[in-house]
Amino acid sequence: MAKMAASMVESGEDVFRKIFKFYKRRHPPPDFSDVIDFSRGVKHDKVVQAKLDPAVVSDVDAARVGLQPVRDWRAFGLQGYPGFIFISNPFLLGSQPFWVRQCLKTYPQKPNICNLDMHMSPSETQDIWGKSLHGLSSPPSGKREPKTLLERLRWVTLGYHYNWDTKTYSANQYTPFPADLTLLSVQITAACGFPGFNAEAGILNYYRSDSSLGIHVDESELDHSRPLLSFSFGQSAIFLLGGTRRQDPPTAMYMHSGDVMVMSGQSRLLYHAVPRIVPAPQGHAPLKMDGCNPALSLQDSTVVEQISEQDWAVCSKYIQSSRVNMTVRQVLGPGQSFPEEPSHHKKTDAGRTVTYHDEPADEESGKMKRSRCDC
Ligand code: SIN
Repeated sequence: MAKMAASMVESGEDVFRKIFKFYKRRHPPPDFSDVIDFSRGVKHDKVVQAKLDPAVVSDVDAARVGLQPVRDWRAFGLQGYPGFIFISNPFLLGSQPFWVRQCLKTYPQKPNICNLDMHMSPSETQDIWGKSLHGLSSPPSGKREPKTLLERLRWVTLGYHYNWDTKTYSANQYTPFPADLTLLSVQITAACGFPGFNAEAGILNYYRSDSSLGIHVDESELDHSRPLLSFSFGQSAIFLLGGTRRQDPPTAMYMHSGDVMVMSGQSRLLYHAVPRIVPAPQGHAPLKMDGCNPALSLQDSTVVEQISEQDWAVCSKYIQSSRVNMTVRQVLGPGQSFPEEPSHHKKTDAGRTVTYHDEPADEESGKMKRSRCDC
């Protein structure tokens, strides 16, 4: 792989696209031996330890959002990627189910916006969780069942709602950002050296086992000096982190459930993509509710609560074959405001601009292509 990348760099080709296709390929399956696995520690020559600031987040505050004490986090950097921080599952045992439930049950609720809103009425998308319960809880009938709304969910936007058509955020497409996710984000960014982070926009991506996310740069936020946070839950993924040009060969790494990535500094505006979802490693059970005593590990919590067995039954079934990713962004710098809106983005009767479209959920096969992907 390294040799292939080197020869392509010389010829000025789109190396990122080639490597994306390599990892996406099903037949024959690619060789995964170059993929960095941070859960194994500093076992790769590019991986270095990252220094965090344990003093800025108390153990009690960390536990409130389901995080281990900062001194116990395993944080890494990557040589050649200043500002990139990978935290290998800093969550307390038993706390991930809460975040998964927020992603599946709470955050898709109105007033947040999701892909299903692009072709369904607000009343039809009002209770995605409730409307999916029957389909997700009943045993397979042997017949081809229609997919539940939850299975058709591809993205949800929070806070300043990202407009996939114009690739912008705007002041009049804003609904309150979830307070629990703000707290989680603020603690992680503070420990990484970014005090005063404002969680203003979120994009949640829902991946089935054959989904991918195309090559893109997250540059729509107006202040790029603020970090971008990414959380992974459920099945694992291959994540590719490239350079500022498509000719730059990307580095491949696994993202497992609970992993957190911080893209900041020079790594904030790099090309990246998810070419493939891969099964969570055998024996990797950070999502299990049993095997720990959630009541003990979450005793100081006022944010993360133990979820009900019924909710967990649905969540665990969903993530057995799926991955959920949440990205959290600060859009505006201190004192910054949005530029004047162009006239074609006028509000509709419902008070919400409808320039979104249903982003299909697959690169090339038409299943997860994102408009911010130009691969
Ligand atoms: C993104 O780049 O927006 C999401 C990446 C991921 O799913 O890990």
